[in-house]
Amino acid sequence: MSERPGELRVYDSPADVARALAELFVRTGTESIVARGTFTVALAGGSTPKAAYALLGAEYADALDWGNVDIFFGDERCVPPDDDLSNYKTADDAFLSHIDIPSENVHRMHGEMDPADAAAEYRRDVIEVLGPDPRFDLIMLGMGPDGHTASLFPGTDPTTDDDALVRAVYSSSQQQWRITLTPKVINNARCVVFATEGAAKRAMLKRVREGTYDPVQTPAQIVAPHDGALIWLVDSAAVTNES
Ligand code: 6PG
Repeated sequence: MSERPGELRVYDSPADVARALAELFVRTGTESIVARGTFTVALAGGSTPKAAYALLGAEYADALDWGNVDIFFGDERCVPPDDDLSNYKTADDAFLSHIDIPSENVHRMHGEMDPADAAAEYRRDVIEVLGPDPRFDLIMLGMGPDGHTASLFPGTDPTTDDDALVRAVYSSSQQQWRITLTPKVINNARCVVFATEGAAKRAMLKRVREGTYDPVQTPAQIVAPHDGALIWLVDSAAVTNES
């Protein structure tokens, strides 16, 4: 099978993946601010990025001029911001509450709102900062063992209402409403980075990168920046039988 797009970088451990992700964040941010005076980034949800967020909130807390950084989210669970399920809470606890960033530079998806209203509000926020054809400097993603990414889940065409830029979606597998950036936004980014770890994701990672192209059943395959880099940061457990 032909390889899907994207550069695969394999690391010995989850800790090495976390450091690589934090360093990629800082490097991309530095380059973006030098080139354009600003760094726009969408954070990934889930648990994999937690260790990288902890590094960004500690060792790298002074690595960027946060006043030039706008932090968004790739997706959010429709829960209040103080709920342990909240992607915002995960990032705030480990990272955002430890850096000197103006509150207006952190763009939270309002998971406590009606999902459709929250998606429409976020669309306005994204357009206000990045314009009507939003091009993020960096979008961070994770991948579920079922091949979902952000809140693009198997079984629905991930490009549906792509022009909405931000979508409210009910996930039957997660039994919850979610808010997510659409593939159109993700694929317009200058750089998209997946962080994926563990033997449980090995088969899906291989299917996404080498299997038949079927983004309805394997939404992570829809990620293919048309004018940007795609990088996979993975640990050895996610790619070999040696764990
Ligand atoms: C979410 C994420 C989701 C996540 C994957 C991987 O809100 O859950 O956006 O796409 O990245 O499910 O999650 P883990 O990193 O916890 O395995």
